[in-house]
Amino acid sequence: MMRILRRKVFVVFIVIVGLISICSFWFSCASSNDLTKQDDAFYRDVSHLTNRYAQPESLLIGQQLKQLQEKSSEVKDADADPDDIPYEEIETSVNDEYTVVGRREGDEVYLPFFGFIQKYFEVYGRLTDNKQRFIFEHSYSKIYKPNGMYTPTGIFMSFEHYNVEVRDRVKCISGIEGVPLSTQWGAHGYYYPIQIAQYGLSHFSKFLIEDKPSVTVYENGEDCTDMEWQVSGPASHVRCVPDDEIDSDVLAFKTPESLGNPGALFHLDEDSNFFMSLDLKFITNGSITVLVETKAKSAPLFHIHYACSQTLIHATGNEIYYGIGDRQTWSHMTRDIPTDFQKGLTLLYPKQKKLKMKFAVRRIVSITLHGTGYVDNITFSSVTHLAQFYYAANWLVRHQDRTGGWPIMVTRKLGTFDSLDPGWYSAMAQGQAISLLTRAYIRTKKEMYLQSALRATKVLNINSQDGGVRATFMDKYVWYEEYPTNPSSFVLNGFIYSLIGLYDLKTIAPPELSGEAEKLFKQGMTSLKHMLPLFDTGLGSIYDLRHVTLGVAPNRARWDYHSTHINQLLLLSTIDNAPILKNTAERWTGYMIGKRAAHN
Ligand SMILES: *[C@@H]1O[C@H](CO)[C@@H](O)[C@H](O)[C@H]1NC(C)=O
Ligand SMILES: *[C@@H]1O[C@H](CO)[C@@H](O)[C@H](O)[C@H]1NC(C)=O
Repeated sequence: MMRILRRKVFVVFIVIVGLISICSFWFSCASSNDLTKQDDAFYRDVSHLTNRYAQPESLLIGQQLKQLQEKSSEVKDADADPDDIPYEEIETSVNDEYTVVGRREGDEVYLPFFGFIQKYFEVYGRLTDNKQRFIFEHSYSKIYKPNGMYTPTGIFMSFEHYNVEVRDRVKCISGIEGVPLSTQWGAHGYYYPIQIAQYGLSHFSKFLIEDKPSVTVYENGEDCTDMEWQVSGPASHVRCVPDDEIDSDVLAFKTPESLGNPGALFHLDEDSNFFMSLDLKFITNGSITVLVETKAKSAPLFHIHYACSQTLIHATGNEIYYGIGDRQTWSHMTRDIPTDFQKGLTLLYPKQKKLKMKFAVRRIVSITLHGTGYVDNITFSSVTHLAQFYYAANWLVRHQDRTGGWPIMVTRKLGTFDSLDPGWYSAMAQGQAISLLTRAYIRTKKEMYLQSALRATKVLNINSQDGGVRATFMDKYVWYEEYPTNPSSFVLNGFIYSLIGLYDLKTIAPPELSGEAEKLFKQGMTSLKHMLPLFDTGLGSIYDLRHVTLGVAPNRARWDYHSTHINQLLLLSTIDNAPILKNTAERWTGYMIGKRAAHN
């Protein structure tokens, strides 16, 4: 295949004596440190990375650029001898397989970065400072050094940087369950316990590090003297009434059920707190509608309807609908309006990703009630991390099965392993769920969270062949499988998450209940310390052991998984001082800036 690049100005990258020396370059990663959290989530998606780095324009680097420009303009002005041009094009044969056009300047050779180096070496570069500076990076991912010793009550690994709900593979947050619905391996959407646990753990971690949220209570039924609700028609009303069940005053409302009628309207004009929470009880079917103004100029207003129905999400025109179930008894509801809006937009305009930015929420204009029922504590806050955390914890308690597991109801095909049929368990789900439940238990002291976490260890004791997740390496080392494949796959990151969960549980459970978690944790740590070297290539890490169990090519971890491995090992090194954990984490960190294990 011949691919010759001929451009007037094209990017060159210094190639010192052949191509081998790439590894000796490393640059500051500072620029990637200022990514916002949202960016961070975006950059997890490899397609975004490709966009970020694959810049079509191309230029020369710094000083050389200036020199070359000066020289070439001299050349032009003087219309001088072409021999004065300081470089010549040079055809470069790559492994005798194809050719690339480079440039020769004296005895130095330059090859195009974007047209060749980047792909060939899987490295990353971009022009900054008005194209006056070139940033070269060996990897695109990032390490979060732990801040002191890990504790089961503190932030979970580096999850304060996670933003689960904005991911494309989250279809929306269910109005009934209050947790995300995944489309990662099934377009129809399914509840994925790992995603739900990560959603809860990220909100818990953010809750711990962020300032107190700003909160405005608009209505709590206490004072109806200066009624701000607009109601039309003699049959409709909103009034304050005492509620015996909860022993306080609440708002009773009665309006037509149909959205075609005006309903009861409350003007908010809320321009900073976009998380809505309220207590609700319907007598008939009904809905709460939020009217949203966006940042896009001259864009229409959008309605988000939270309606008594089982439909997950539906959108048409400027209307977005979330089913919230029938709500015939008092229940609390918390909604992240910007996320609900974005997910609705994605349904309305599936192909237009850029729209999401332009159409960010600027203001919540009003809320409107339809139907007959009661409402209390209508509140808008800047964030609602704890509510989101408890939605996840309660989902886990409600949906745990009799084996103590959270079966995953979607087919999963890992590489060339046989597919896992719907209903499989994952040690990663069990582990992250345990980490979430232990935190919920610590905060609330509610027994149900502790009991659920304890039950969750059962699945780790059942062999993969028997429907569990336990594998044994070389008849010796016990492993908890993220994917309980046959033969075993030994996925590293999922295994370590299960160990972190076990550590959390054995640490917080009362001594008479912690034995099982303690035993499973110890077994797992022994396996990890013995098997960790199998995941080291000398210049990166490996995702699983398919090269051992299937005899196929090794499955190298891409950089975000590699950095997850390191973040996990750094966490474990704060609770276990075995040198292999710390040393491996350090060596693997070096791989991210181009260092490699020595060769013979
Ligand atoms: C709500 O609507 C559904 C579907 O139309 C109906 O089956 C149900 O009985 C209604 N519930 C109430 C309380 O009116
Ligand atoms: C509204 O909030 C108050 C204060 O937290 C609480 O006592 C009351 O029960 C809440 N109302 C409902 C309907 O849950």
